Amino acid sequence: MSFAATTESVHVRAPGKINVYLGVGGRHDDGYHALATVFQAVSLYEDVIARHADDFSITVTGVDDPDTVPLDDRNLAMRAAKLLATAAEYDGGVALEIRKSVPVAGGMGGGSADAAAALVACDALWGTGFTPARLHELAARLGADVPFALHGGTAVGTGRGDQLNPALARGRFDWVLVTSDQGLSTPVVYGRLDALREADGALADDPPLSLDVPIPVLQALRSGDPELLAESIYNDLQEAALHERPELETTILRGIHAGALQGIVSGSGPTVALLCASPEAAQHVQAGLLEHGLDSLHVHGPVAGARIIA
Ligand code: C5P
Repeated sequence: MSFAATTESVHVRAPGKINVYLGVGGRHDDGYHALATVFQAVSLYEDVIARHADDFSITVTGVDDPDTVPLDDRNLAMRAAKLLATAAEYDGGVALEIRKSVPVAGGMGGGSADAAAALVACDALWGTGFTPARLHELAARLGADVPFALHGGTAVGTGRGDQLNPALARGRFDWVLVTSDQGLSTPVVYGRLDALREADGALADDPPLSLDVPIPVLQALRSGDPELLAESIYNDLQEAALHERPELETTILRGIHAGALQGIVSGSGPTVALLCASPEAAQHVQAGLLEHGLDSLHVHGPVAGARIIA
């Protein structure tokens, strides 16, 4: 009997990510920008449970405002399930239950993690049996960050962020995350970057269409030394995100004042990621932030990508 016939539900867990380095080049004709980035998967997870159904449906828990997560084809997990069904010529459906922990529209790839988890969960539920390479190819069609959520660990992303190569990272890195109640739209932040570059005199299409991650970033990850990594974490989208949310700069400064080695906006924001020297240092930073009324989360990376846990 096949796995599909014997399995009532599949539970998959996929991580959120921080862009330890994010260089943004020019805009391609399709609107996507050339990227050179280093992703690190961190211990903040999305859980997706897939159950057999005739149609496609989604339920979501773990969000303060349910209106921020669409339950139709605008939801990347829904698109992932349908894309897999089409590719596998599967004519049933699936009921997806999404338990969110990664902030919605927070710059940490929560929606991409849902999509990656849905691909893995439906593949197992339906007994599709696609290879990791085939799942990666479908993931890249869904969004630039989805392949990384499948992959996990620490990886260099080039192209539109979807061409991945593993990066060697020793040990563990401790991060304190300060989330925001209000998410930020990724296209808006990229658009703001283009506008800022234009205002600077450089046409938005002038930046290079091929770029590399600087060697010191990779060396710091290899060394496992957070102090070294703190010298090279960087985000080209940060200026644009700060333009939309000036208060994030104060959050970064408060984090550094409380003992963080360095802080950046994660991806397109508004989540702020503060790199800390140790788990103890991270707790200290959290206490310092709380004195200013700032709630935070302590996570570590790298962690594994989308995995079946039950
Ligand atoms: O791929 P994803 O759906 O995450 O991208 C969301 C939006 O972010 C895109 O529509 C685009 O505006 C912007 N983006 C970009 N260049 C990338 C990745 C994303 O301009 N490499």
